[in-house]
Amino acid sequence: PRITFIQPDGSRTVLEAGEDPTVMHVGVRHNVARLPADCGGQLACASCMVDVAPAWIECVGEPGPDEGDMIEDALGSRPVGRRLSCQIQVSEALDGLEVLVPERQG
Ligand code: FES
Repeated sequence: PRITFIQPDGSRTVLEAGEDPTVMHVGVRHNVARLPADCGGQLACASCMVDVAPAWIECVGEPGPDEGDMIEDALGSRPVGRRLSCQIQVSEALDGLEVLVPERQG
């Protein structure tokens, strides 16, 4: 599946997920900017946040309970579509997915 990362300036990077298990892994493997993902996917850093493009929110789904709590701790709110990219599992159903990388992580 192909996943597009969109930076705050609108620049787009289309990446092939290959064997990467999560959207975070795809971005980190290709050095996508503003995606430090410090904990490596352990649900412990909240530095892998993305905003799922509106058209994809339903397909990708809501954050899990712990993930939602981490987003709220980081931001003070739970914006619609905001996810930790390490908690979005790659699958063929996500082919064409677009995510926006926020200006700042937390
Ligand atoms: Fe740390 Fe996602 S990489 S919470």
